[in-house]
Amino acid sequence: MADIILGIESSCDDTSAAVISDGWLLSNVTASQDVHKAYGGVVPELASRAHEQNIVPVVSEALKRAGVKKEELSAIAFTRGPGLLGSLLVGTSFAKSLALALDVPIVMVNHLQGHILAGFLKEQGVPVVQPSFPYLCLLVSGGNSQIVRVDSYLEFEILGQTIDDAVGEAFDKCSKMMGLGYPGGPVIDKLAKLGNPNRFKFAKPHVAGLDYSFSGIKTSLLYFVRDEMAKDPGFIEKNKEDICASFQKALIDILMDKLLKAVKQTGIKEISIGGGVAANSELRSRISEEGKKRGWYTYLPPLKFTTDNAAMIAIAGYYHYLAGERTPLDIVPVSRMADF
Ligand code: KG4
Repeated sequence: MADIILGIESSCDDTSAAVISDGWLLSNVTASQDVHKAYGGVVPELASRAHEQNIVPVVSEALKRAGVKKEELSAIAFTRGPGLLGSLLVGTSFAKSLALALDVPIVMVNHLQGHILAGFLKEQGVPVVQPSFPYLCLLVSGGNSQIVRVDSYLEFEILGQTIDDAVGEAFDKCSKMMGLGYPGGPVIDKLAKLGNPNRFKFAKPHVAGLDYSFSGIKTSLLYFVRDEMAKDPGFIEKNKEDICASFQKALIDILMDKLLKAVKQTGIKEISIGGGVAANSELRSRISEEGKKRGWYTYLPPLKFTTDNAAMIAIAGYYHYLAGERTPLDIVPVSRMADF
């Protein structure tokens, strides 16, 4: 009999549910929350309320599209953390209640493991191309920037990580400073295509080992824009494409420098990416180009699996389920998870 897993993701501002059968994706439904746009960032209280409204219709729709009755589920995988506590509580409580009603187990998932394992989702009609172990994953999102060594579906080692801001935060704050809206990554990605990436230079951080830092470059952009606007109030409007292209290039250079170092240190040439910033078109082409030049095997997950989604939670939960892991019903969500 097939192992059918319902995945539930509610760590930030996307309410998502997905159904997989033996690792094959049957459905993936996400309700995004536009309510935050007016505030230039996610408002935790509003996010929890929107999850509460969305969770029942989103799960029903995911089951419907999968053609699966809830009684057929083998287990329910849910995001335990990291994320916004109020948001996580909605998904966790829903998973527990449904599991109790159906008498099936729950399996907790670390959101970051979900981002890493998203590349293992199988879809009908799409060739199965997956990294082999061990591989390196550049995990880049709104809350994290890490280089992770992945030894199996259940074994992860963080080789380097940001000591301050995440790279997605740098994209979002740059966009906010320039009045371009939220989330910033997709807007900057789009505008950068029209600009000159070599026009402006931003100071690169000097951080030891494989760790990252993005707070300095964000401040350097802030001072740069402030000084230029004092001379010409139309500076941003006239130069936004070049600013975005130059800032994006600086961020990607930082990411790539450490990734190259990690490959050199570990000798691992299987490279994957995950997290919202993995949707960035320039980052994707830089990884492919470097891969071709240096003989890497590169795995770029489809865009729909890079930003928050429940399919990645379902696949990560599936591997924990296969390993015999079951989560007790008195589990509570956590906003931070120290490690994998
Ligand atoms: O993984 P994700 O959906 O949520 C977290 O778990 O953080 O990532 C969201 C982040 C945001 O900072 C957003 O600006 C960024 O991913 N992002 C991008 C792109 N699409 C989303 N950053 C750069 N380029 C993109 N195309």
